Amino acid sequence: MVELRDVRMQFQDKKVLDGFSLKVEPQERLVIMGQSGSGKSTILRLILGTLRPNSGSIFFKQFEITRLQRRKLQRVRQHVGMVYQYSALLSSRNVRDNVALPLEELTDKSRGEIDKIVDEKLDLVGMKDSRDLLPEELSGGMKKRIALARSLVLEPELILLDEPSAGLDPVIASVIDELIIGLSEKAKVTSITATHEMDSAFRIGTRMAMLYQGKIIEEAEPEKFKQSKNPVVAQFLSGSTKGPILEDSQDAITKK
Ligand SMILES: Nc1ncnc2c1ncn2[C@@H]1O[C@H](COP(=O)(O)OP(=O)(O)O)[C@@H](O)[C@H]1O
Ligand SMILES: [Mg+2]
Repeated sequence: MVELRDVRMQFQDKKVLDGFSLKVEPQERLVIMGQSGSGKSTILRLILGTLRPNSGSIFFKQFEITRLQRRKLQRVRQHVGMVYQYSALLSSRNVRDNVALPLEELTDKSRGEIDKIVDEKLDLVGMKDSRDLLPEELSGGMKKRIALARSLVLEPELILLDEPSAGLDPVIASVIDELIIGLSEKAKVTSITATHEMDSAFRIGTRMAMLYQGKIIEEAEPEKFKQSKNPVVAQFLSGSTKGPILEDSQDAITKK
């Protein structure tokens, strides 16, 4: 479904991805774990094609998205849903209009058809009674549900979720995780979730990958991943202050 091959990404003189490779199979829920600042959001933006790597290639199905022209890329991108970290809803538009946005921008469906799809997706995330509310009237968990509904309106084959439980209390975070699992099973979509939150990661993932210093240093099914002998993974999972992470990484500590 997705493959990144030897991807390098650098911002000014800061190397973020350094020969990064990863394969994602259809219908799996891959979780990318890593410290804040390690490059998780960057990976999602590269897959979505809103960012181009310095080198390497990225495939979505049969398309090499790193080579597509803008118009073609936009068409391919319609098959990929994105849920941004802070939900990214437009504050001046109500729930209905926020969810309808991709349909209005990218399709020529009639208002009636769009309303039908919007209602169906709001129903899927348990929010069909809030179509007239404004984002400011919603809690964090409700915003996340709306963002999820919006990511589904074009019936994507792949959804990318950036820190889906960030900023939510633990109970609401679990509810959102369950919803993500339910949606991915019902709609048979493949998903890639970036997170640094362990509980959420292990609830959602059918496969786990650990990003560290620009590369995947470990990837395995959840149970096997937990037993990893890699000292970085072990330290990350235990949240211990002792281990390679504090010594090696300049960024992670100072930035939340
Ligand atoms: N557009 C950008 N310009 C400059 N630096 C960036 C940009 N996007 C990300 N970075 C830097 O790249 C690194 C990785 O960022 P990011 O992918 O957001 O990490 P994560 O999502 O794992 O917290 C950080 O040091 C960040 O400051
Ligand atoms: Mg991020």
